[in-house]
Amino acid sequence: MKVPLLDLKYQYATMRDEIRSVLDEICDDQAFILGPHVKALEDDIAAYCGTGHAIGASSGTDALILALMALEIGHGHEVVTTPFTFFGTAGSIARVGAKPVFVDIDPVTFNIDPNGIEAVLTSNTKAVMPVDLFGQLAEMDAIQEIARHRKLRVIQDSAQSLGAKHHGKTSGRFADLTTFSFYPTKNMGAFGDAGMVVTDDAALAERCRILRVHGAKPKYFHHFIGGNFRLDALQAAVLRVKLRHLDKWSDGRRRNAAQYDALLAGLSDVITPSVAEYNESCFNQYTIRITGGRRDAVRKNLQEMGIGTEVYYPLPLHLQKCFAYLGHKEGDFPESERAAKEVLSIPIYPELTDAQIDAVCAAIKKSLE
Ligand SMILES: Cc1ncc(COP(=O)(O)O)c(C=O)c1O
Repeated sequence: MKVPLLDLKYQYATMRDEIRSVLDEICDDQAFILGPHVKALEDDIAAYCGTGHAIGASSGTDALILALMALEIGHGHEVVTTPFTFFGTAGSIARVGAKPVFVDIDPVTFNIDPNGIEAVLTSNTKAVMPVDLFGQLAEMDAIQEIARHRKLRVIQDSAQSLGAKHHGKTSGRFADLTTFSFYPTKNMGAFGDAGMVVTDDAALAERCRILRVHGAKPKYFHHFIGGNFRLDALQAAVLRVKLRHLDKWSDGRRRNAAQYDALLAGLSDVITPSVAEYNESCFNQYTIRITGGRRDAVRKNLQEMGIGTEVYYPLPLHLQKCFAYLGHKEGDFPESERAAKEVLSIPIYPELTDAQIDAVCAAIKKSLE
C-alpha cells in the first residue's frame, strides 16, 4: 500500500465548494491585496490564539522578519536560537543584519535547551527566538524567566505549532511576538505562501502593520524602511475556511500519533516522539529517531515500499555553508548534529486510515529486519 507523506487532496475535497465560492467572490471583486478578508482572518486568528492583535504576512519567514524589525533588531545585535530548525528561523535573523547565536537542543523534545541560553548572552543580545519544532512548544516558562531577568525580548517561531497547547493555553500567548506559517504543509496550509504575527502589544502590532507596507502610514509617507510583507485576500479567504476545521485536524493528528506510539513501541533502533507533560502537540510532524546509523537505509527501504518520509532537517544551521562566517565546526552542537542524522518524519496527516498506519508500521518493521 502506498502512503504519501502528505496528501492534501482529501482535505480539499471536504471543503471544495466552500472555498471555491469565496475565491469566486474575490475574483469578481478583483480586490486582491489586504482588505476585508485579511482583516477577518486576523480577527479570527487573534480570537483563536487569545491574543490582542494579529497581523497577516506574506509568509512565515516574512512574519519573523516583521517581528524582528518591529523590535528594531539589526546590525550589532544578537538573537539566540536553535540550530535544529528550518532555515527561515536563523535566516531571518541574519537578513535583518543581526547575528544568530545558537544553543543546542534538548534531545527529547528537539527544542532549544533553555539551560544553555544564559551562557551565550552578551551585552548585544536583544532577543531569544525559540522554535516549536514538529508541533510542540518550546519550554517557555524557563525562556520567559531568562528573558525577564535579562531584559530580552522573545520572538517565538510557532510556524509548526498553530493549534498546539502549552500549560493548557493555545500557542501564540507566550512571547512578545509569535509568528505562524501557513505554508501548504503546515497544519493549516494556504494555497501558496502566507504567514501571521500575533502579539498582545498594541504598539508592536501597529509597527508590524506599518512595516508590512514599506513602513508607510498613510500610503506614500514612510516612517520606517519596511518591506512588502502583505498577505493577499485569496490566501486569507482559504485560511478562514480552514481555521474552522483546525482543531478537528489536530485531534486527528494526535489520534494517529497515539496509534503510531503503540504500534512502534519497543522496536529496537526506533525512538518515538516524546511530548512534555505540559504540552499538547499538534503534530505538524510525527518524527521518529532511527538509531544505530540506519536512518538512511530505512528511509530508502520505505521509499521502495511506497511510504513517503522526509528528513527535517538533514544539516543543522551552524554547519550550513552560508553561516560559515559564524565560525562553527562539527561537534559544536552535538545533539542537533545527532538529531540531523537520526530523525525521520512519517505520514501523520489527519485523514490517514488505520490500514495506512498499519502499513507504515509494518514497512518500518520490515525495513529494520
Ligand atoms: C520552524 C519554521 N520556521 C519558519 C518557517 C518559514 O515559514 P514560510 O515557509 O511560510 O516562510 C517554517 C516553515 O516553512 C518553519 O517550519
